[in-house]
Amino acid sequence: MQNPFYYGGVVYDEHFCDRTTEIETIKNDVEAGMNLLIYAPRRFGKTSLVMKALGELEKKEGFHTVFVDLMPITDKREFIDAYFHAIAASLRGPAEKIVAFFKQVAKIRPNVTVSFDAAGNPRYALSFSSRDIQATLDEVLETPLLYARSGKRIVVVFDEFQQIVQLGLEAKLRSVVQRHGSEVSYLFMGSKQSLMREIFTDKNRAFYKSVKHLPLGPIGEEEWRAYIRDGFERTGKNVDDEVIAAILSVSAGFPYYTQQLAYEIWEMTPKNADMEIFAKALRLVLEREEDLFRQEWERLTLTQRKALKLIIAAEGKEIYAAHHLEAFSITSSTLQKAVKALLKKDIIDETAGTYRPQDPLFGYWIAHQGNS
Ligand SMILES: Nc1ncnc2c1ncn2[C@@H]1O[C@H](COP(=O)(O)OP(=O)(O)OP(=O)(O)O)[C@@H](O)[C@H]1O
Ligand SMILES: [Mg+2]
Repeated sequence: MQNPFYYGGVVYDEHFCDRTTEIETIKNDVEAGMNLLIYAPRRFGKTSLVMKALGELEKKEGFHTVFVDLMPITDKREFIDAYFHAIAASLRGPAEKIVAFFKQVAKIRPNVTVSFDAAGNPRYALSFSSRDIQATLDEVLETPLLYARSGKRIVVVFDEFQQIVQLGLEAKLRSVVQRHGSEVSYLFMGSKQSLMREIFTDKNRAFYKSVKHLPLGPIGEEEWRAYIRDGFERTGKNVDDEVIAAILSVSAGFPYYTQQLAYEIWEMTPKNADMEIFAKALRLVLEREEDLFRQEWERLTLTQRKALKLIIAAEGKEIYAAHHLEAFSITSSTLQKAVKALLKKDIIDETAGTYRPQDPLFGYWIAHQGNS
């Protein structure tokens, strides 16, 4: 019997839990030609969510999705290559027709080439000299609009968008996005929250107030409960309520860890998942993440470590209260400085005056250091 849980890459179909409201919002906004911003911590389910919503739009409304991950890209030429290929691939037609579209409709001047990998998938490319980078960039950035005007509905997704700054393309892209209005919908995703926040909320930056922000929270407890229970039951196993509660208490609904814990518990369970199995699975998951957590911890200053411990002990609330400061021998101003640094490093988040470690398992690990 196959494990019904999954963690790692993008999740589809039976591995996908909830997010119904977010899916509806994305679909409606993209159909209306809006631009959207989605940022959340790493492994929070951004790509899975967007793929699911856009997959539905492709099937039902004939949308074409151009998906570009900026993470591996190191310069403008690579950006052009990746973007051009993504646009071409989204056209979904025979290679000759796609090449013809670029020549006739988009009037792309550089030579369009297409090659095929072993599985028969096409790889589209442009050949141009370094002298022509700027002009080619302009032409490629314009194609989604021409594409839309030729009667196709198109949505462009930039994953790990914060990279745009280092590529020196922030202002340029902003003007393109603005010019394309509601004819092309753009979706920006990113996991470096502090950077994304700067790009989109700094008055002096190109993207200030230009897109609708879709906040992505954890998946709800009720949805997880039903999902985990169903995963066990349809594979002929049972899971105690207590175990589900324990998973969600450690993972705080964070998708990756919830799936990872459920996956490992299922693996260790012959028939009935109980708290003993839960404890074993949690130890295993912590062991796996240990190196990463240790590195993360060592990158922090002693004061930042102390601030993090205080935040966890205080459960993030009223962290400047005198008894907390006293218990951790830290002054209010030192704590304030450390908190600012932790927010900037994306170690913690703040909502309505409550502070939380972005990574709930890292928080758990800190709270239990020295007890293992
Ligand atoms: N809707 C969901 N239902 C169930 N599990 C999910 C869901 N979304 C995410 N996950 C879990 O989280 C993992 C990471 O998902 P995904 O790759 O979509 O996140 P991401 O935010 O794009 O991550 P990254 O920052 O690494 O790109 C998945 O492998 C899966 O275990
Ligand atoms: Mg992703």
